[in-house]
Amino acid sequence: MSARVYVLNGPNLGRLGTRQVDVYGVTSYADLVELCETTGRDLGLDVVVRQTDAEHELLGWLHAAADERAAVVLNPAAWSHYSIAVRDACAMLRGPLVEVHISNIHTREEFRHHSVVSAVATGVICGLGVDGYRLALHHLASRRDQTA
Ligand code: DQA
Repeated sequence: MSARVYVLNGPNLGRLGTRQVDVYGVTSYADLVELCETTGRDLGLDVVVRQTDAEHELLGWLHAAADERAAVVLNPAAWSHYSIAVRDACAMLRGPLVEVHISNIHTREEFRHHSVVSAVATGVICGLGVDGYRLALHHLASRRDQTA
């Protein structure tokens, strides 16, 4: 497995810190990028963090991650609940995929309870706030160490 990890974020996550702070917390997207990059540095991972509101852009990033056999941490945001295209791209990945949700989607509206991505993810972290990203990176680092 490559030490490169892509942390990919779907629609509206660029608005973290101002968006529904009661649900998603006060951490800004810039702070989230910093958290992931710092965690990656500490763990010896080459972490690349991205966010997009355009589905085709996420698909392109997932294709590139598949070609590189890279590990991915993905918060598909609203696409989790209906994008078969995102799921199909995730199914092509050859490295591990950790799906992260900041909020606990199971305690929210019913339409959020199902993620079409989860069945093709290695694992899912949800409801632990932005700490879920840090935990996902720790998990990927420990997998890498086990397979090294
Ligand atoms: C989210 C949960 C989704 O239901 C929502 O559409 C998001 C963020 C989360 O991180 O909790 O945009 O994925």
